[in-house]
Amino acid sequence: MGYSRRDFLSAVGVSGGAGALFATMGALGLAPSAEASAKGTFDPPQQSDFSLTGRSAKKVVILGAGIAGLATAYELGKAGYDCTILEALDRVGGRNWTIRGGDRVTELDGTTQVAKFGDGVYLNAGPARLAQWMVTMDYCRELGVDLEVFTNSNAQAYIYHQNMRAPVRWRTAKADVYGYVSELLSRATDAGALDAALTAQDKERLIAFLSSFGAVGDRASGFKYSGGTRRGHGVNPGAGDQPGTALGPVPSLSEVLASGVGQRFAFEFGYDQAMLMFQPVGGMDAIPRAFAAKIGRQRIRLRAKVTRITDLPDGVEVEYADRHGRTQKIKADLCVAAMPPHILARTAHNLGAEVQAALATPTATNAGKIGLEYRRRWWEVDEDIYGGITATDLDLATIWYPSYGYGASRGMVVGYYNFGAQADAYAALKPAERERRAIEQGMKIHGAKYRDELASSVSIAWKLQPHIEGAWVGWPSRQGAYQLLGKPAGHVYFAGDWLSYMIAWQSGALESARKVVTELHQRVLSTS
Ligand code: ALA
Repeated sequence: MGYSRRDFLSAVGVSGGAGALFATMGALGLAPSAEASAKGTFDPPQQSDFSLTGRSAKKVVILGAGIAGLATAYELGKAGYDCTILEALDRVGGRNWTIRGGDRVTELDGTTQVAKFGDGVYLNAGPARLAQWMVTMDYCRELGVDLEVFTNSNAQAYIYHQNMRAPVRWRTAKADVYGYVSELLSRATDAGALDAALTAQDKERLIAFLSSFGAVGDRASGFKYSGGTRRGHGVNPGAGDQPGTALGPVPSLSEVLASGVGQRFAFEFGYDQAMLMFQPVGGMDAIPRAFAAKIGRQRIRLRAKVTRITDLPDGVEVEYADRHGRTQKIKADLCVAAMPPHILARTAHNLGAEVQAALATPTATNAGKIGLEYRRRWWEVDEDIYGGITATDLDLATIWYPSYGYGASRGMVVGYYNFGAQADAYAALKPAERERRAIEQGMKIHGAKYRDELASSVSIAWKLQPHIEGAWVGWPSRQGAYQLLGKPAGHVYFAGDWLSYMIAWQSGALESARKVVTELHQRVLSTS
């Protein structure tokens, strides 16, 4: 076309500088460029969509002020939709719940705990960590929610299996597993056991990698793994003539394999669990609080329990019991049901037998947590642990150290975060018994101070939380019921993490809300 690629590039370089030049070359495949964003696109409805078409925004009733319901009202509200949220609880957020001193935790049978936590100490009873790639991060930016690093993996925290004599730090476990695996693979490679798969050059490169990865000895030593300071120090390096001592003794290969520690490592390889991870400063509920403030508190009716959903020829009517137990009705053009599916399945509606069967398809999973408030941050002072998670095969599953308040006087340890049968075992106990069991188990790792320095505790069993009754759900498949509820039933749409491929993540609820908002808005723009 009379305009060469070089001409084009130099024009970009002149007008846009080196950065633009480099990015353009990347786009043309001439230079390496950062990986393209893996995010989906979302065009939020805008007020101008209506001013341009002459159509008016509609009235929408949203069932549930969890993350999906809030995000739906927030996005629709930006375009001028008249949204009302009905929420059965007396707070917004749903499973996003931060418990602080004075808060009450009441279970289905009426058992009530009142948190006695001191100032600045809190428990994120539900979601507690955000991955960088999740849309939740974008909402935090947009809503002005301050973030800080949440330490999901920490070399200084422990792995404890009941077949072990004592807990072992993650760093020590990794040094030993990587070391022995590197020794074995180096020897096998060098002895020709892999010659069918490797060229001579591949073999040298693999051995070079293993030397660095496992910190093993040279060929003359038989690539021997013999420990080292990656395991940690018995005595830390110091001043003058104190070089420190490597932590010993080094267990045998057989002992390391028998301990099973290596099977823990994949946790932090997960796309959703890899560091860095983040948390809102001061508690996860900063997210629902910010949403509610943007939506307008007057649009959110708390302690409003949905009792009937009626699809009508021209809209939808929702019946609910208000805070005084009186039956109220609200009519709207459209409805977004953002409640847990198993609760919706128990709510009267006229959406048909297929929808009813679909709502009853996913099964709820339980999860539990206990917040243990301590008078002294012994995990920092005595054990040099600043955040992170200890993994165990005890029924407490994991112990979490706080990623905030370092160096303060008090602090909160999550004494168990477990799910499934382990969570059910704790849910079956009264709060005092849960505390006793959690302490008895945790003492196997941390000793008597774990009991003696406890100030207070609060536990949550998600399957026993009114109007929620589960931590998250599972689907037998993503066909059939899942597909059906991904479409509106008359004027009723469904939203929630349970309609995403990120179940048990706020990002799943947010992506689901965005999908429903997009579809609902397209319908409104293309009809009426
Ligand atoms: N998203 C939940 C967690 O991180 C399941 O533990």
